[in-house]
Amino acid sequence: MAEIDLLDRYPRTTRDIAARAAAVPAQREIAKRFDREYFDGERGQGYGGYRYDGRWVPVAERIRDHYRLTAGQRVLDVGCAKGFLLHDLRQVVPGLEVVGLDISGYAIAQAVADVRPRLVRGSAECLPFADRSVDLVISINTVHNLDRAACRRALAEIERVSRGHRYVQVDSWLNEWQREKFERWQLTALTYSDPAGWRRLFAEAGYRGDYYWTVTE
Ligand SMILES: C[S@@+](CC[C@H](N)C(=O)[O-])C[C@H]1O[C@@H](n2cnc3c(N)ncnc32)[C@H](O)[C@@H]1O
Repeated sequence: MAEIDLLDRYPRTTRDIAARAAAVPAQREIAKRFDREYFDGERGQGYGGYRYDGRWVPVAERIRDHYRLTAGQRVLDVGCAKGFLLHDLRQVVPGLEVVGLDISGYAIAQAVADVRPRLVRGSAECLPFADRSVDLVISINTVHNLDRAACRRALAEIERVSRGHRYVQVDSWLNEWQREKFERWQLTALTYSDPAGWRRLFAEAGYRGDYYWTVTE
């Protein structure tokens, strides 16, 4: 179990906090459907257009190198959205077996063609995979969208299906300024905390994998 930032090569984006803050709370209800409006609608409701542009390639390389991924291993992305990271992992580790799960039927329908057949619709709190059947489980900016009890179950599920590594990234903050910005920015999170609170929840869930924080800059 390690605190490690595996998204340190993900391109930094500018967040227009003032514009987003003006939009909530009405836009939060729309965003929480995780439908077209969240992924490909206006920025005030989510991504403001989430299209494949290669931004996950450096992250895929970082994950490959850190976990020494090789052909034949199986990777699961919980909250895979349109499957961009899984697509890139397949490119940088030929022969890697990938599977993804997301609650959004829209995102799966819009997924990159090569991974779409490998994605299933479902909730992180009940993973349709056998115990210890996955070499690496990744879940980036997803489990904080569940309420606390469901989030705990999701973390336990990630632990259950993994036979090797797990990496979870969640919304958090390192100081009060970041906390305030996060609370004005966020649309969909139901469970959030400072790092100490997250570590307590990890312990409650029996989650023993790696983790890091998404901080609103
Ligand atoms: C902020 S996006 C992150 C997507 C992707 N992991 C990434 O980093 O680009 C959150 C994702 O979580 C998915 N999601 C929300 N609630 C979920 C749940 N209960 N189970 C599985 N996926 C969920 C959403 O549909 C969305 O794709």
